[in-house]
Amino acid sequence: MDIATTPSNPQGNTGMADAAPTPHDPPVIQRKDYRPFPWLVPETELDFALGLTESRITARLHVKRNPAFEGTRDEMRALRLNGDGLTARVVEVDGARYGDWAMDDGDLIVELPGEAHTVEVVTMIDPSANTQLMGLYASGGMLCTQCEAQGFRRIAFFPDRPDVLSTYKVRMEGSREQFPILLCNGNRIDEGDALEGRHWAEWHDPWPKPSYLFALVAGDLVANSAPFTTRSGREVACNIWVREADLARTDHALESLHRAMKWDEETFGREYDLDLYNIVAVSDFNMGAMENKGLNVFNTKYVLADSDTATDADFDAVEGVIAHEYFHNWSGNRVTCRDWFQLSLKEGFTVLRDQLFSQDMRGEAVKRIEDVRILRAAQFPEDAGPLAHPIRPDSYREISNFYTATVYNKGAEVIRMMRTMAGVEAFRAGTDLYFDRHDGEAATCEDFVTAMEEGAELELAQFRRWYRQAGTPRVAVSQSVEGNAVELTLEQTTPPTPGQPVKGAMPIPLRVAVHCAQTGSIGEEELVVLRLDEETFTLPASGPRPVVSINRGFTAPVTIEREVSTDDLVFLAAHDDDPFARYEAMQDLAVRHLVAAASGTLDQAGRAAGKRQIGDAMRAILLDDSLDDAMRAELMLLPSETYLFEKMATTVDGEERKADPGRIHHEREQLKAAIGFTIKRDLEAVYARVADIPFDDPNGRGARKVKTMIATLAAVSDPARAAAMAARQYDRADNMTDRQGALTVLCGLESEARDERLEAFYDRYRDNPLVIDKWFSMQALSTHPRVIEHVRELAQHPDFTMRNPNRMRSLYMAFAGNPKGFHDESGEGYRMIADAILALDPINPQTAARFVPSLGRWRRIEPGRAAMMKAELDRIADAPNLSRDTAEQVSRSLDG
Ligand code: PHE
Ligand code: ZN
Repeated sequence: MDIATTPSNPQGNTGMADAAPTPHDPPVIQRKDYRPFPWLVPETELDFALGLTESRITARLHVKRNPAFEGTRDEMRALRLNGDGLTARVVEVDGARYGDWAMDDGDLIVELPGEAHTVEVVTMIDPSANTQLMGLYASGGMLCTQCEAQGFRRIAFFPDRPDVLSTYKVRMEGSREQFPILLCNGNRIDEGDALEGRHWAEWHDPWPKPSYLFALVAGDLVANSAPFTTRSGREVACNIWVREADLARTDHALESLHRAMKWDEETFGREYDLDLYNIVAVSDFNMGAMENKGLNVFNTKYVLADSDTATDADFDAVEGVIAHEYFHNWSGNRVTCRDWFQLSLKEGFTVLRDQLFSQDMRGEAVKRIEDVRILRAAQFPEDAGPLAHPIRPDSYREISNFYTATVYNKGAEVIRMMRTMAGVEAFRAGTDLYFDRHDGEAATCEDFVTAMEEGAELELAQFRRWYRQAGTPRVAVSQSVEGNAVELTLEQTTPPTPGQPVKGAMPIPLRVAVHCAQTGSIGEEELVVLRLDEETFTLPASGPRPVVSINRGFTAPVTIEREVSTDDLVFLAAHDDDPFARYEAMQDLAVRHLVAAASGTLDQAGRAAGKRQIGDAMRAILLDDSLDDAMRAELMLLPSETYLFEKMATTVDGEERKADPGRIHHEREQLKAAIGFTIKRDLEAVYARVADIPFDDPNGRGARKVKTMIATLAAVSDPARAAAMAARQYDRADNMTDRQGALTVLCGLESEARDERLEAFYDRYRDNPLVIDKWFSMQALSTHPRVIEHVRELAQHPDFTMRNPNRMRSLYMAFAGNPKGFHDESGEGYRMIADAILALDPINPQTAARFVPSLGRWRRIEPGRAAMMKAELDRIADAPNLSRDTAEQVSRSLDG
């Protein structure tokens, strides 16, 4: 192969062919083109001379031929080392200066004649100039790395692909004053002083790993430490590293880590495999956190928490993300991915593992409802729009764009379905087999499914379609009563998605029960698996007025479509024994009413009746003594506007109906007002009951949730009263949950109390960036009539910067997720997000591209707004020098 004429390949030599590129059309990487790498790299030695503006890296790779590679002689001789923006200062092969290297689109190519060689390359980088936050970068005076997915190639020339596993020995050296702490993967094996106030440390990671799991941190940090003893008696030193000022807010993270370690031993039989577990919190980070072997790097948002600065939800998020990264040590690190198309192998499975952990820690019902709400808000729209892709995609241009709710959350649902069908014990046998069989390997989704088939004794031939097909299946339900039985006819269809016009039937496991609305009797639960396009199941009816409860516990990530009377929904909302089914019935009641009202198919009387019924159902929940307050608040939460868009934008009687954000918002506010008004007394009584429950009370969390939920309803039904309530709640608050809840309510109101409390909040927390992020978000998310103006002003605030992803998201992600502001009929909201994308793209393309999907939903929105959204996408597409990340998302959004 002649290197000079090789098609350029910005992904590096992933061994995958690509189409000839044009500037605006980066090459497409195809899953089917996977080939092993010609070389193995059993050992890697790295030497870092660290400096904030200049770091020098010497990488010594011990390579040998990969017997699994099949190719031509020329292919076998060439060693292609990926690079992104790197220049080779010195290249040596087997200890001798080597001058024959070539560059190809950033990659370095060396010709190697023998079976085994040592290749050494020196590179220099400027971490302070790295605004993408990929590779080695500076954050608040410290140095840290982010290598997943393809950041390692911004540090050193290397086969930067997950199927090249290597053991790493790393020497790092830097100024003792600037970087008193030097951390890397694995164990520290030596340290010492160097000249001119510098010091060094040597680290060794005994576990072979792909380059995306490499990490290094150098900075002025302190640790909160406590050992964990594994079930086999190994003592693991656990450290949470932060800046000195943050140390007091790390106990929750450390305790969460210990809980996760114990849980994974008990639940999945997985034990930790090093003597050291380090977590470092950094304030500039593109994502939530990263599972680097033995050295997790975290966004501060998912480490720091105390009751004065973090809400109950923040505490839960810290626990969940700490657990998620810890669980990756097995699902991701010990068993990693063969190529990036297999991303869901580690992410879907690990999300399921962290969900099950949180269910066990905090209660199954509430956690399940939260997870379904996230799925519906983030994944369903993705699956219904131009960016829809299977959990195991077939192609990509920029892999960063595939860290999606589909790969993560739908991926978790797909594995959860296997668990539901197998049962907990058999599922465990399947995961045991998977871990044992593939330990130390780079595996595929197919490997996981095969291990499940054998270990859990499931038959999964047809089930594999869940990995291949995009789109949310719809299950239409119809029922008829035959004597003592109910005949349930289920029909499945999956709508077309880009590149997949026709779908096949998938196995859909549904937990069902048939109750009786007349006698109130609760039916036995059964698991039915719908495998064909259409199937009829016969279930025993437990009484004369059978009511079917279906997809209990949300056993399948599908949409249920059925004709069911309002009375039956009211019955299910009040009496179903499955808490998720109660929640679902309440959601259905509200969805039906709101979509009908927004589409103009309800007359005045129908509208009034609908509101009354929902109000009554809410009152029943409010007064139901069998519920705890956390569940009560959950049941009373109205469906989000995004979810309502999905429900409104569907085909009705063969005609496509579009979502109307303006009308949905209006109707939802009207419903809130009606509820707040019709059950005012009951709401006030409950508010009075919970208002002063102390923080540490066993019911404290539930109380706080109910309190803010009630104040939110009052904000629409009686704004003046709500302002007084919220101001009082704010002033008396001894914790962030109450304070943020109150301020969120105030933010939407035109009241003096709003400005006063916003100012007080800012003054109190001006030195705490994570809390100032909240201050930006609450304003950007508000329903205040002048929210657009507020966001524009906030963008000029001295504390605003696009260089910090948390701050950027706190203003613009919040605003893009605020249906009222974003979908303002002027189109100003769309323009603001497009401007933000264009401004951020040259600084941090990965984060910029994440704003595109909000505009990408234009096809499902009513024509007036759709035209404005599309025009903004066109404007972005026309901009010169767009990053590969943003270009891919914009072109997919326009082509669809
Ligand atoms: N692998 C990380 C996780 O899910 C996410 C991540 C991806 C972080 C890419 C940084 C960059 O745990
Ligand atoms: Zn993950």
